[in-house]
Amino acid sequence: MINVAIDGPAGAGKSTIARKAAAELGYIYIDTGALYRTVGLFMMNSGVDTADAAAVAAALEQKPEVELQFLDGEQRMFLNGADVSAAIRTPEASMAASRVSAVPAVRAFLFELQKQLAREHDCIMDGRDIGTVVLPQAQVKIFLTASPEARAERRYLELIEKGMDVNYDDVLADMKERDYNDSHRAIAPLKPAEDAVLLDTSGNTLEESVALVLSTIREQLSKKQ
Ligand code: DC
Repeated sequence: MINVAIDGPAGAGKSTIARKAAAELGYIYIDTGALYRTVGLFMMNSGVDTADAAAVAAALEQKPEVELQFLDGEQRMFLNGADVSAAIRTPEASMAASRVSAVPAVRAFLFELQKQLAREHDCIMDGRDIGTVVLPQAQVKIFLTASPEARAERRYLELIEKGMDVNYDDVLADMKERDYNDSHRAIAPLKPAEDAVLLDTSGNTLEESVALVLSTIREQLSKKQ
């Protein structure tokens, strides 16, 4: 199976870019952030304080059923049988995801699910630790980034488009807080794999970023043959 790992901070455009690149290549696209968001939502629904790592680990003992399905090529997330694909996208769920993702038991809980998906499919998997921890054997590793302001602006426009009531300064502050959490946590911190290709998408149009990612994937794969 061909596995492409795309890691990088929130809002670098990873998911949109990876989805389009995967469609072009005929691979499936797996958004691992959605898995952490689903666990975050489970904690919120269960009334667990996501800042309390011990409480999060204890609640995981209830073994929430986290399932991923592809409907018309789109990844949908199910939590204990309910479709939570929209509910995991709120700013509260983003923050809960960032917090629960620092808990080792949560990462261990989601690790095997991610490995299994990669074993079964040619895929582009996006996340924070795919190239470093989950798929260290991936044939292609890309670290996609952009300035915090460029990333906050994209995320802000996305949320507004979904009809959410947010303001840019809050989105930027959230983005910086999540960046800090994601890159300073003790377990699987956000950092490029040694053999990752670094791509910066600030100032690029979506089409330019997709083209850049596709040419990088093709070039890396041709080197491996
Ligand atoms: O990519 P995203 O914004 O949907 O990710 C939600 C949170 O999950 C983010 O704060 C970091 C975390 N995450 C992670 O720790 N490891 C991954 N592979 C993917 C996401």
